[in-house]
Amino acid sequence: MDKEKNEQITFKIQRYNPEKGSEPHFQEFIVTSSRGMTILDGLIYIKENLDSTLAFRTSCRMAICGSCGMLINNYPHLACHTQIEEFHSSRLTIKPLPNLPIIKDLVVDLNPLFETHKSIKPYILRHDDKEMENPTAEFTLSPQGLEAFLQFTYCIKCGICISACPTSASDKFFTGPQALAQCYRYCADTRDEGEMERFSVIDTDHGVWHCHLAGACSEACPKGLDPALAIQLLKRQMVSRTVGLGKKELPASTVPPNTETKPKVPFPDFTVKGSK
Ligand code: FES
Repeated sequence: MDKEKNEQITFKIQRYNPEKGSEPHFQEFIVTSSRGMTILDGLIYIKENLDSTLAFRTSCRMAICGSCGMLINNYPHLACHTQIEEFHSSRLTIKPLPNLPIIKDLVVDLNPLFETHKSIKPYILRHDDKEMENPTAEFTLSPQGLEAFLQFTYCIKCGICISACPTSASDKFFTGPQALAQCYRYCADTRDEGEMERFSVIDTDHGVWHCHLAGACSEACPKGLDPALAIQLLKRQMVSRTVGLGKKELPASTVPPNTETKPKVPFPDFTVKGSK
């Protein structure tokens, strides 16, 4: 594809509307591409000019919200983060993400992802109930402590890792790379004390041990995360705890809140007449 010229690109898109009882089938659209045009731009062009019934999901258009994951030429991508010219082809085949139920056309149901994510309790768990209910101090986290899990906080829950995972393809009950990586993120956090609670969720036939380290999740993640690494670290953490080896660092220390009086910032004048 000549980068400088506008070219005619064929978008071959999988269509499926369960309400109409139709079987999944392909439909082709011609889109004139220009330099820098993304797959999402192409889909928006089709929806606005060629077929308003085409369904796809989008929101931020900047690889932040995780809405626009889809299979493009048989590989999962974020449509808003993928330019047409990357494929060096005048034909693009676009399908919904595999391993997730299809709602319509390119829209998949992300609820299974969110439910599994919820099941691993993706928040700080602690045993000091009194402190949690009536906090007297703040939990501290060292820069080194943060480094242990920082990359996993960048997950945008797009489902691309799940769609790339061969275990998710063969076991629909598999916890999956997204939730397992998030499980590690919280278990590795020195402020957290909930690892045994989470281990009981993932120590099942469909849990962490079912990952056989294909590494496809890490290769496909559009945010450059390495869920396969997180899963291996999680396995190590679980084995260590089970045999009584390697203790997690002591829970984060608490520091009293800063009570220093801050200079008062003057309240800005109202700009709307009549406001008080
Ligand atoms: Fe938000 Fe693509 S539209 S990630």
